[in-house]
Amino acid sequence: MTKNKNNQAIWGTRIKNRTSSHFQKVGNSIDIDKRLYKEDIVGSIAHVEMLFKQKIISFKIKNKIIYGLNKIEKEISNKKLEFNKKYEDIHMNIEKRLFQIIGEEAGYIHTARSRNDQVITDLKIWIKSSTKYINIVLDKVISSTLKLAEKNIDTIMPGFTHLKNAQAISFAHYLMAYVEMFNRDKKRFINNLDNLDESPLGVAALTGTSFSIDRHYTARKLGFKKPTNNSVDTVSDRDFVLDFLYSVSVCSMHISRIAEELIIWNSDAFNLINLSDKVVTGSSIMPQKKNPDLLEYLRGKSGSAYGNLFSMLTILKGLPLSYFKDLQDDKEIIFKSNDTLLDCLKIFDELLKNLNPNKKEMIKLANTGYITATDLADYLVKNFSMPFRKAYQKTAAIVNLAEKKKKRLDELSIEDLKKIEPKLTNDVLKVFDLRNSVDSKKSYGGTSFENIKKMIIKYKKQK
Ligand code: ARG
Repeated sequence: MTKNKNNQAIWGTRIKNRTSSHFQKVGNSIDIDKRLYKEDIVGSIAHVEMLFKQKIISFKIKNKIIYGLNKIEKEISNKKLEFNKKYEDIHMNIEKRLFQIIGEEAGYIHTARSRNDQVITDLKIWIKSSTKYINIVLDKVISSTLKLAEKNIDTIMPGFTHLKNAQAISFAHYLMAYVEMFNRDKKRFINNLDNLDESPLGVAALTGTSFSIDRHYTARKLGFKKPTNNSVDTVSDRDFVLDFLYSVSVCSMHISRIAEELIIWNSDAFNLINLSDKVVTGSSIMPQKKNPDLLEYLRGKSGSAYGNLFSMLTILKGLPLSYFKDLQDDKEIIFKSNDTLLDCLKIFDELLKNLNPNKKEMIKLANTGYITATDLADYLVKNFSMPFRKAYQKTAAIVNLAEKKKKRLDELSIEDLKKIEPKLTNDVLKVFDLRNSVDSKKSYGGTSFENIKKMIIKYKKQK
């Protein structure tokens, strides 16, 4: 193999002095990018098949290289290959091993390609399959959310704005809001694939190559829609990394929002949900404590997802074209974001299965804060053809009266109500019923029981 006397890296033929030990420490990425070994081998096989098809290498050499690569794949899968930091990254470690297995002819593998196109090919293939896996896990979360929603169509709670009681809703309707978010997350990940679906392989270092390669062939072989259009853009582009990191950030943010809400609801002050012992932890000093640590973990982890997105944006800011070492950090960032998101989704799924609404407390809280005031205003509009603004003022006067008398709206007598709107009769009392209030929101997307049932069925069918 091509190496200098110190048995240094492949490019050591020209660079005679030993690389500074500091750089040796930080310059390699094998501990991180070894995760790409399968993608790297698949890419290399497609590349040598293309080289053979284009008569750039012989049938014999092609077969030898593919034999070697398959052997290396098995060795790595069986943890039989020891990686060497001296060879920097997964690409060079595999190439080095190929020389050991098949000898000098291994050197043909790097005809008409560079690590610059190789690494992005690997990464794009990896992101594609990771996107599929994230979507499978998101589907599980959606189906657990649907199950919990299905059990709680009748569970009435206060809907909040500004964390103040606003209007009554079904707990299922609240949960279904997250089904919408997770469904959009799925789409967001999938939408990224459209831009990403172009094969970088064969743009070589940055200019393309004088060999008569067939990039359409390798693109097809590797499952890409087409090859990329511009060689300089190809080796410089990490937009697809940003898209992925952004999608992870949005999904983490959704999890963080529900986690925060559930933490509040689990507090002694709210007491709206119970968490089973499987998903709480104790305190080292306060024996009575059952803390929602896992929810707190989920809430916090959105921070690292945003951090990763910003790291990558910052690496790319002002970076001239084309390849620079700065870009090597993309993989660590992607893997971290990916792994943390998957942990969060799996933990969240577990939480959904270990969470029960405290129905009594939910309804009790929903009965405070004059939560049916908007229903009363709507009633006035509908029954006495009053403009909404006028009905709003009358209702506000009724709320003021109730507040003064220290009564709930449904505890006011019809005489009290008539003082403010003489046309009112006993018929109005039904608007103070929370079930009636929830079920009256029949407009598309509203919290009526019928709407919720339809949405649950729609999403169950979608899977
Ligand atoms: N390990 C490198 C990376 O991830 C591969 C590309 C190396 N290219 C180079 N010109 N040094 O970015």
